[in-house]
Amino acid sequence: ELEKLLSVTEGHPDRCSPLQVARKDFEGFKKLFHRFLQAKGPSVDWAKIHRPPEDSIQPYERIKARGLPDNVSDCLDKLVVVKLNGGLGTSMGCKGPKSLISVRNENTFLDLTVQQIEHLNKTYNTDVPLVLMNSFNTDEDTKKILQKYTHHRVKIHTFNQSRYPRINKESLLPMATDLGTMGENADAWYPPGHGDIYPSFYNSGLLEQLISEGKEYIFVSNIDNLGATVDLYILHFLMSQPNGKRCEFIMEVTDKTRADVKGGTLIQYDGKLRLLEIAQVPKAHVDEFKSVTKFKIFNTNNLWISLSAIKRLQEQSAMDMEIIVNPKTLDGGLNVVQLETAVGAAIKSFDNALGINVPRSRFLPVKTTSDLLLVMSNLYSMDAGSLTMSEKREFPTTPHVKLGSSFTKVQEYLSRFESIPDMLELDHLTVSGDVTFGKNVSLKGTVIIIANHGDRIDIPAGAMLENKIVSGNLRI
Ligand code: UTP
Repeated sequence: ELEKLLSVTEGHPDRCSPLQVARKDFEGFKKLFHRFLQAKGPSVDWAKIHRPPEDSIQPYERIKARGLPDNVSDCLDKLVVVKLNGGLGTSMGCKGPKSLISVRNENTFLDLTVQQIEHLNKTYNTDVPLVLMNSFNTDEDTKKILQKYTHHRVKIHTFNQSRYPRINKESLLPMATDLGTMGENADAWYPPGHGDIYPSFYNSGLLEQLISEGKEYIFVSNIDNLGATVDLYILHFLMSQPNGKRCEFIMEVTDKTRADVKGGTLIQYDGKLRLLEIAQVPKAHVDEFKSVTKFKIFNTNNLWISLSAIKRLQEQSAMDMEIIVNPKTLDGGLNVVQLETAVGAAIKSFDNALGINVPRSRFLPVKTTSDLLLVMSNLYSMDAGSLTMSEKREFPTTPHVKLGSSFTKVQEYLSRFESIPDMLELDHLTVSGDVTFGKNVSLKGTVIIIANHGDRIDIPAGAMLENKIVSGNLRI
């Protein structure tokens, strides 16, 4: 049994023995499963939901207006950047960690992150470390790649999140019957969401190590959010809070548009700021939740969190996060659930928590190849790993792009573009069916290209499409 344990937990950091890690995972799972069994009814009472008070969500401009001190590097010395790297690239048809997908000029999400932090360290003569929270799905591949950054000015740490068993939806029994090796029984296990950061970071020993090195805050974000760069104004704001009134948690939120109606929002509940996710909303109130007038902002998952507060809450077992029950149907048709938590849901456990309403540019997630097309195009320019909207675009909004199912997988998507079209003047693009784009195509205004089943449309090299609908068959 012990031998089995050692083989399945291989790759965990040296700080804990594999056996200890497996035990801690099991303890964590037991607690979560117990809470799941105890839960009665919805986690929120709709009547108790209030709009957050005025000063609990500050406009970014107000934070920025405070300016920067001469000694910004003193603030940076106390900061750690954490990227959530437990997820795979499956939804974009890729094997392996999502962070290793190329997004811009052959650079992956991870490359861009390392470039951003290296630039920060060189500019301010600091050594802000990067921490990656890996999962058993991403750890091995990520670690292989990390070697290539050895000579960069960024110290990179990793720790692994937990590995929990999926549960059969009908019987509520765990799918795994033993600890099995990953290859054999991969479907039986899952990483339990990014809320797992708190126990896993604590259990890894890395949290303690960073505190002992004088670090005070982590800036956490999704590795696929290219807008999540270190913001010096927010950092300075955090560091200049008076002792005793220190803000332990900041959630960056941004204005909701009709495209983001599913994102979690901040509410006031039992006198505290709380994250409300769509999964917690009773059916009768879903439309109200989606309204952009009632709930005006949503969570970007860019979070600034006090390290000592995480330590305190972990030690007091006071980190309180709602359970997300995520149903899945496995390849063989078996219905399972996986119990997850979200990192932002812990906001209510921290003292003096605050939202900051940041510009949309800090939320640039790449979830689909439609998002990928935008960030690969001339709408953005890249400098030291950061993307900014090109000054040549006349409107500040990004175009609405909807690529059809022939573009879902990154490989197929790439094979359909000889070069990425000029999109500076594009408002809306819909593409459906078997469509390819030649070199140097320009898209302006609203462009809709639809190849029906059996047809193919090749947009010729150099074509300029402005407010056009293209359909039928067009082969070159
Ligand atoms: P998600 O896959 O949860 O994307 O990953 P989402 O649905 O847009 O995000 P949320 O849940 O609404 O914020 C978000 C980030 O969290 C990491 C992924 O790698 C990605 O960077 N993640 C997710 C983990 O690190 N561990 C997990 O168990 C789940």
